Amino acid sequence: MIKEQIDLNKLPRHVAIIMDGNGRWAKKQGKLRVFGHQNGVLPVREVTEAAAELGIEFITLYAFSTENWNRPKSEVQALMSLLISTINKEVKVLQKNNIRLQTIGDLNALPAKSRDELLRAVEATSGNTRLTLVLALSYGSRFEIIEATKKIALAVTNNLLKPSEITEEFFESNLMTHNTPHPELMIRTSGEMRISNFLLWQLAYAELYFTPVLWPDFKKDDFYKALLDYQNRERRFGKTSEQIES
Ligand code: IPE
Ligand code: IPE
Ligand code: MG
Repeated sequence: MIKEQIDLNKLPRHVAIIMDGNGRWAKKQGKLRVFGHQNGVLPVREVTEAAAELGIEFITLYAFSTENWNRPKSEVQALMSLLISTINKEVKVLQKNNIRLQTIGDLNALPAKSRDELLRAVEATSGNTRLTLVLALSYGSRFEIIEATKKIALAVTNNLLKPSEITEEFFESNLMTHNTPHPELMIRTSGEMRISNFLLWQLAYAELYFTPVLWPDFKKDDFYKALLDYQNRERRFGKTSEQIES
Protein backbone atom coordinates (compact mmCIF):
# COMPACT_ATOMS: atom_id res chain seq x y z
CA MET A 1 0.00 0.00 0.00
CA ILE A 2 1.33 3.34 -1.06
CA LYS A 3 -0.11 5.14 1.98
CA GLU A 4 2.12 3.18 4.34
CA GLN A 5 5.25 4.48 2.62
CA ILE A 6 4.48 8.05 3.66
CA ASP A 7 6.65 9.40 6.48
CA LEU A 8 4.20 11.04 8.85
CA ASN A 9 7.03 13.10 10.35
CA LYS A 10 7.81 14.72 7.01
CA LEU A 11 4.38 15.85 5.92
CA PRO A 12 3.82 19.27 4.39
CA ARG A 13 1.67 21.49 6.59
CA HIS A 14 -0.05 22.96 3.56
CA VAL A 15 -0.76 21.46 0.13
CA ALA A 16 -2.16 23.63 -2.68
CA ILE A 17 -3.89 22.01 -5.65
CA ILE A 18 -4.82 23.26 -9.12
CA MET A 19 -7.75 21.02 -9.97
CA ASP A 20 -7.51 20.92 -13.75
CA GLY A 21 -8.81 18.73 -16.57
CA ASN A 22 -12.57 18.52 -15.93
CA GLY A 23 -13.45 19.67 -19.43
CA ARG A 24 -11.11 17.24 -21.16
CA TRP A 25 -12.34 14.41 -18.95
CA ALA A 26 -15.93 15.06 -20.06
CA LYS A 27 -15.00 15.52 -23.70
CA LYS A 28 -13.19 12.18 -23.75
CA GLN A 29 -16.53 10.51 -23.09
CA GLY A 30 -18.50 12.67 -25.45
CA LYS A 31 -20.12 14.64 -22.63
CA LEU A 32 -20.52 18.37 -21.95
CA ARG A 33 -17.85 20.19 -19.91
CA VAL A 34 -20.31 20.63 -17.04
CA PHE A 35 -20.41 16.86 -16.61
CA GLY A 36 -16.69 17.04 -15.91
CA HIS A 37 -17.20 19.71 -13.25
CA GLN A 38 -19.91 17.62 -11.58
CA ASN A 39 -17.49 14.73 -11.45
CA GLY A 40 -14.83 16.98 -9.98
CA VAL A 41 -16.61 17.04 -6.63
CA LEU A 42 -15.77 13.49 -5.55
CA PRO A 43 -11.98 14.00 -5.79
CA VAL A 44 -12.35 17.05 -3.53
CA ARG A 45 -13.87 14.77 -0.94
CA GLU A 46 -11.12 12.16 -1.49
CA VAL A 47 -8.29 14.66 -1.04
CA THR A 48 -9.88 16.35 1.95
CA GLU A 49 -10.43 13.03 3.66
CA ALA A 50 -6.94 11.77 2.86
CA ALA A 51 -5.35 14.98 4.13
CA ALA A 52 -7.38 14.95 7.34
CA GLU A 53 -6.54 11.30 8.00
CA LEU A 54 -2.82 11.95 7.58
CA GLY A 55 -2.86 15.05 9.75
CA ILE A 56 -2.13 17.69 7.10
CA GLU A 57 -3.25 21.06 8.45
CA PHE A 58 -4.14 23.07 5.33
CA ILE A 59 -5.38 22.27 1.82
CA THR A 60 -6.01 25.06 -0.69
CA LEU A 61 -8.02 24.14 -3.77
CA TYR A 62 -8.09 26.37 -6.85
CA ALA A 63 -11.74 26.12 -7.84
CA PHE A 64 -12.30 29.22 -9.99
CA SER A 65 -9.81 31.81 -11.19
CA THR A 66 -10.36 35.48 -11.99
CA GLU A 67 -9.64 34.49 -15.61
CA ASN A 68 -12.33 31.80 -15.52
CA TRP A 69 -14.94 34.59 -15.64
CA ASN A 70 -14.06 34.79 -19.34
CA ARG A 71 -15.51 31.33 -20.02
CA PRO A 72 -18.90 30.94 -21.76
CA LYS A 73 -21.69 32.33 -19.58
CA SER A 74 -23.46 28.98 -19.39
CA GLU A 75 -20.34 27.26 -18.01
CA VAL A 76 -19.80 30.00 -15.42
CA GLN A 77 -23.43 29.72 -14.31
CA ALA A 78 -23.21 25.95 -14.09
CA LEU A 79 -20.07 26.23 -11.95
CA MET A 80 -21.73 28.74 -9.61
CA SER A 81 -24.80 26.56 -9.07
CA LEU A 82 -22.61 23.51 -8.58
CA LEU A 83 -20.80 25.49 -5.92
CA ILE A 84 -23.99 26.19 -3.98
CA SER A 85 -25.38 22.67 -4.20
CA THR A 86 -22.06 21.11 -3.23
CA ILE A 87 -21.52 23.38 -0.26
CA ASN A 88 -25.05 22.74 0.98
CA LYS A 89 -24.45 19.02 0.80
CA GLU A 90 -20.94 19.05 2.22
CA VAL A 91 -21.38 21.25 5.30
CA LYS A 92 -22.65 18.29 7.34
CA VAL A 93 -19.63 16.21 6.28
CA LEU A 94 -17.27 19.05 7.13
CA GLN A 95 -18.84 19.35 10.58
CA LYS A 96 -18.68 15.62 11.19
CA ASN A 97 -15.01 15.53 10.19
CA ASN A 98 -14.10 18.67 12.15
CA ILE A 99 -12.98 20.53 9.00
CA ARG A 100 -12.91 24.31 8.80
CA LEU A 101 -13.83 25.91 5.48
CA GLN A 102 -12.20 29.17 4.43
CA THR A 103 -12.02 31.08 1.15
CA ILE A 104 -9.66 33.35 -0.70
CA GLY A 105 -10.55 35.41 -3.75
CA ASP A 106 -12.78 38.26 -4.79
CA LEU A 107 -16.00 37.04 -3.22
CA ASN A 108 -17.74 40.28 -4.21
CA ALA A 109 -17.58 39.11 -7.81
CA LEU A 110 -19.66 36.00 -7.01
CA PRO A 111 -23.44 35.96 -7.41
CA ALA A 112 -25.00 37.03 -4.08
CA LYS A 113 -26.56 33.61 -3.46
CA SER A 114 -23.27 31.76 -3.93
CA ARG A 115 -21.46 34.24 -1.73
CA ASP A 116 -24.06 34.02 1.05
CA GLU A 117 -24.07 30.21 1.08
CA LEU A 118 -20.32 30.19 1.11
CA LEU A 119 -20.03 32.66 3.98
CA ARG A 120 -22.63 30.70 5.92
CA ALA A 121 -20.55 27.52 5.54
CA VAL A 122 -17.38 29.37 6.53
CA GLU A 123 -19.11 30.73 9.63
CA ALA A 124 -20.69 27.37 10.55
CA THR A 125 -17.35 25.54 10.41
CA SER A 126 -15.19 28.30 11.88
CA GLY A 127 -14.66 26.46 15.18
CA ASN A 128 -13.40 23.23 13.57
CA THR A 129 -9.79 22.33 14.20
CA ARG A 130 -8.69 19.19 12.34
CA LEU A 131 -8.02 20.51 8.83
CA THR A 132 -8.52 23.88 7.16
CA LEU A 133 -9.87 23.61 3.63
CA VAL A 134 -9.33 26.85 1.71
CA LEU A 135 -11.34 27.31 -1.49
CA ALA A 136 -9.78 29.73 -3.96
CA LEU A 137 -12.80 31.22 -5.71
CA SER A 138 -12.69 34.06 -8.15
CA TYR A 139 -9.08 34.08 -7.03
CA GLY A 140 -6.17 35.60 -8.89
CA SER A 141 -2.77 36.13 -7.38
CA ARG A 142 -2.09 39.36 -9.25
CA PHE A 143 -5.39 40.77 -7.99
CA GLU A 144 -4.46 39.74 -4.45
CA ILE A 145 -1.04 41.40 -4.69
CA ILE A 146 -2.48 44.61 -6.15
CA GLU A 147 -5.13 44.77 -3.42
CA ALA A 148 -2.45 44.37 -0.75
CA THR A 149 -0.36 47.07 -2.42
CA LYS A 150 -3.32 49.49 -2.47
CA LYS A 151 -3.95 48.96 1.25
CA ILE A 152 -0.29 49.56 2.05
CA ALA A 153 -0.08 52.62 -0.20
CA LEU A 154 -3.10 54.09 1.54
CA ALA A 155 -1.52 53.54 4.95
CA VAL A 156 1.64 55.29 3.76
CA THR A 157 -0.38 58.18 2.30
CA ASN A 158 -2.16 58.59 5.64
CA ASN A 159 1.17 58.62 7.48
CA LEU A 160 0.28 55.43 9.33
CA LEU A 161 3.23 53.58 7.85
CA LYS A 162 6.76 54.38 6.67
CA PRO A 163 8.02 52.76 3.44
CA SER A 164 10.92 51.33 5.47
CA GLU A 165 8.39 49.39 7.53
CA ILE A 166 7.23 47.42 4.48
CA THR A 167 8.95 44.11 5.19
CA GLU A 168 8.11 40.75 3.59
CA GLU A 169 6.22 39.82 6.76
CA PHE A 170 4.22 43.02 6.70
CA PHE A 171 3.41 42.68 3.01
CA GLU A 172 2.30 39.12 3.60
CA SER A 173 0.03 40.12 6.44
CA ASN A 174 -1.98 42.05 3.84
CA LEU A 175 -2.49 39.07 1.54
CA MET A 176 -5.69 37.02 1.64
CA THR A 177 -3.66 34.04 2.85
CA HIS A 178 -2.30 35.90 5.89
CA ASN A 179 -3.44 33.26 8.38
CA THR A 180 -2.01 30.23 6.55
CA PRO A 181 1.58 28.98 6.22
CA HIS A 182 3.09 28.88 2.71
CA PRO A 183 2.26 25.70 0.80
CA GLU A 184 5.27 23.37 0.77
CA LEU A 185 3.75 21.36 -2.08
CA MET A 186 1.70 22.41 -5.11
CA ILE A 187 -0.03 19.75 -7.19
CA ARG A 188 -1.50 20.37 -10.65
CA THR A 189 -3.50 17.72 -12.47
CA SER A 190 -4.18 17.25 -16.21
CA GLY A 191 -0.59 17.54 -17.45
CA GLU A 192 -0.52 21.34 -17.74
CA MET A 193 2.72 22.72 -16.33
CA ARG A 194 1.90 26.26 -15.36
CA ILE A 195 0.79 28.27 -12.35
CA SER A 196 -2.16 30.12 -13.96
CA ASN A 197 -2.11 33.06 -11.53
CA PHE A 198 -2.29 30.87 -8.40
CA LEU A 199 -0.53 31.92 -5.16
CA LEU A 200 2.44 33.50 -6.95
CA TRP A 201 3.93 34.97 -3.78
CA GLN A 202 3.12 32.03 -1.53
CA LEU A 203 4.53 29.37 -3.87
CA ALA A 204 7.95 31.03 -4.12
CA TYR A 205 9.65 28.00 -2.54
CA ALA A 206 7.01 25.30 -2.96
CA GLU A 207 7.83 21.95 -4.51
CA LEU A 208 5.81 21.60 -7.71
CA TYR A 209 4.23 18.29 -8.70
CA PHE A 210 2.52 17.74 -12.04
CA THR A 211 0.50 14.68 -12.94
CA PRO A 212 -1.26 13.79 -16.21
CA VAL A 213 -4.25 12.44 -14.24
CA LEU A 214 -7.36 14.49 -15.02
CA TRP A 215 -9.00 15.97 -11.91
CA PRO A 216 -12.19 13.82 -11.94
CA ASP A 217 -9.95 10.71 -11.91
CA PHE A 218 -7.77 11.93 -9.01
CA LYS A 219 -7.94 9.47 -6.10
CA LYS A 220 -6.41 9.19 -2.63
CA ASP A 221 -3.55 7.10 -4.05
CA ASP A 222 -2.70 9.89 -6.53
CA PHE A 223 -2.49 12.27 -3.59
CA TYR A 224 -0.25 9.86 -1.67
CA LYS A 225 2.00 9.55 -4.74
CA ALA A 226 2.45 13.31 -4.81
CA LEU A 227 3.30 13.32 -1.09
CA LEU A 228 5.87 10.55 -1.56
CA ASP A 229 7.46 12.42 -4.43
CA TYR A 230 7.60 15.53 -2.21
CA GLN A 231 9.25 13.57 0.60
CA ASN A 232 12.02 12.44 -1.75
CA ARG A 233 13.00 15.96 -2.73
CA GLU A 234 15.74 17.99 -1.14
CA ARG A 235 14.46 21.45 -0.24
CA ARG A 236 17.56 23.63 -0.35
CA PHE A 237 16.20 27.20 -0.04
CA GLY A 238 19.25 28.60 -1.82
CA LYS A 239 21.80 26.64 0.20
CA THR A 240 24.05 23.84 -1.06
CA SER A 241 23.24 20.17 -0.74
CA GLU A 242 26.17 19.75 1.71
CA GLN A 243 24.78 22.45 3.98
CA ILE A 244 21.42 20.71 4.07
CA GLU A 245 22.92 17.33 4.94
CA SER A 246 25.09 18.54 7.80
C1 IPE B 1 -10.70 22.75 -14.12
O1 IPE B 1 -11.02 22.04 -15.27
C2 IPE B 1 -11.90 23.40 -13.47
C3 IPE B 1 -11.96 24.87 -13.62
C4 IPE B 1 -11.05 25.62 -14.15
C5 IPE B 1 -13.14 25.51 -13.10
P1 IPE B 1 -11.14 22.75 -16.68
O2 IPE B 1 -12.56 23.19 -16.85
O3 IPE B 1 -10.12 23.79 -16.84
O4 IPE B 1 -10.84 21.53 -17.66
P2 IPE B 1 -9.95 21.56 -18.97
O5 IPE B 1 -8.63 22.15 -18.62
O6 IPE B 1 -10.68 22.38 -19.97
O7 IPE B 1 -9.85 20.12 -19.36
C1 IPE C 1 -6.70 27.01 -13.55
O1 IPE C 1 -7.21 26.18 -14.54
C2 IPE C 1 -7.81 27.48 -12.66
C3 IPE C 1 -8.48 26.43 -11.90
C4 IPE C 1 -8.17 25.16 -11.84
C5 IPE C 1 -9.59 26.88 -11.13
P1 IPE C 1 -7.48 26.74 -16.02
O2 IPE C 1 -7.90 25.56 -16.81
O3 IPE C 1 -8.41 27.87 -15.96
O4 IPE C 1 -6.04 27.25 -16.44
P2 IPE C 1 -5.44 27.62 -17.86
O5 IPE C 1 -6.33 28.64 -18.46
O6 IPE C 1 -5.44 26.36 -18.68
O7 IPE C 1 -4.06 28.09 -17.60
MG1 MG D 1 -8.21 23.78 -17.49
